[in-house]
Amino acid sequence: MSESLVTVSYIGATILFILSLGGLSHPETSLRGNLYGMIGMTLAVLATIFGPRVTMAGIPWIIGAMVVGGGIGLYAARVVKMTQMPELVALMHSLVGLAACLVGYANYVDPAASAQLVGAEKSIHEIEIYIGILIGAITFSGSIIAFGKLSGKIGGKPLLLPARHWMNLLGLLIVIYFGWHFLHAETVSAGMIGLTVMTVIALLFGIHMVMAIGGADMPVVVSMLNSYSGWAAAATGFMLSNDLLIVTGALVGSSGAILSYIMCKAMARNFFSVIAGGFGTGGGTVVAASGDAQPAGEVVAISAPETAELLREARNVIIVPGYGMAVAQAQHTVCEITKYLREKGVNVRFGIHPVAGRMPGHMNVLLAEAKVPYDIVFEMDELNADFPDTDVAMVIGANDIVNPSAQDDPNSPIAGMPVLEVWKAKTSIVMKRSMASGYAGVDNPLFYKENNRMLFGDAKKMLDEVFVALKS
Ligand code: TAP
Repeated sequence: MSESLVTVSYIGATILFILSLGGLSHPETSLRGNLYGMIGMTLAVLATIFGPRVTMAGIPWIIGAMVVGGGIGLYAARVVKMTQMPELVALMHSLVGLAACLVGYANYVDPAASAQLVGAEKSIHEIEIYIGILIGAITFSGSIIAFGKLSGKIGGKPLLLPARHWMNLLGLLIVIYFGWHFLHAETVSAGMIGLTVMTVIALLFGIHMVMAIGGADMPVVVSMLNSYSGWAAAATGFMLSNDLLIVTGALVGSSGAILSYIMCKAMARNFFSVIAGGFGTGGGTVVAASGDAQPAGEVVAISAPETAELLREARNVIIVPGYGMAVAQAQHTVCEITKYLREKGVNVRFGIHPVAGRMPGHMNVLLAEAKVPYDIVFEMDELNADFPDTDVAMVIGANDIVNPSAQDDPNSPIAGMPVLEVWKAKTSIVMKRSMASGYAGVDNPLFYKENNRMLFGDAKKMLDEVFVALKS
């Protein structure tokens, strides 16, 4: 394949990647978006393999690596549960970081890569290598720790070392010093000293940065590492003078950064305080047993038949799904109940909080999988004002995202986080197994409100019972 054909293919792939990102922004177009991405990637890989830079002797190696990597990827994608997706994504990011490091080292030791470079061009090439390995190493170790935390292999509690910000600053100064050393090295082996010291510091920094972050902030960190992995790929593109890698890396880097920003906004968290760490423990705690946060009153329990009765009498119903619906895999029963109620003339809508569940779009994906029509699924802002006109607000396995203390209690850890105002409905019903707190580990005053009812039990089991009662 000639160089110009490769360039045309790369431009085609770039356009397909941009269309893919556009498609993924809405459930209705997301399948098409995925398809664009797959075609774009196939085009990019084929153009690279059959392009002028790969020799015939290299092709069997590439195909072998693709079969092994593709096989592992296929297996992982098939066995991973929806709730484990953030861990898988974290693990994938670690591989991008590792690849950036390995390409950086290979590029530095390969005499052919920099043989013709002199003066400023040589320095720029070395800066690309240094920065590429730096971002790659932080992404690699940070993502491994993020994977450990998300999968529960490492505790969610933030590790806050004394003088940790000073330690980070010292690390940065050492990295800058050795960067200077690296750029002025006369030989490759002399340059390896600076490169190795920087890599070790970057790896430690990645570990330290993510260890300091509490469980509640982990998804933001995964999205931030996603952004880093994009920049690492872009740096690799510069090292290899591969335009497509630069563009793709920049697309991933900037979309990850925008997503991190949106998530921070939805959680009322300042991006820099997320990085500074120390918020949340990562697991639900039983509030009654957790010392300073005692349950603040009595709750009124409700049975499944009573819930069915309330739904039958309602004209307007808003369903608010959360992480518990994903755990219970209750989305199909939710869909059946919705269908039944709509057939009876009840106006049923869904209210989705931007950080409901454990990853962006988590609830939208589950509802789409259960074939809930898109036109009754709304963003939080689109229907928050409608709760006063709602007869029943049904909260299914959600907690933090419907916590009124975010608005009422300036001392709450989630103060300022936008929430779905379900307590303004005539009756709210919260479906969960116990009085345990949600991800942020804080009590929820919603449970004790006069117009609130608690339907205790596994969401799938309780909804099955509600559905049976509805039909009888
Ligand atoms: P949570 O606040 O974590 O509450 C989920 C509730 O589901 C728990 O209180 C739990 O109570 C219940 N539950 C668990 N398994 C259940 C089951 N099988 N059946 C019924 N209920 C079950 O979830 P949320 O309201 O969706 O809020 C999301 C949280 O994650 C927020 O704090 C958010 O900031 C954080 N977060 C999310 C994201 C993204 S991108 N989605 C990003 C960063 C942080 P029981 O144990 O009593 O059943």
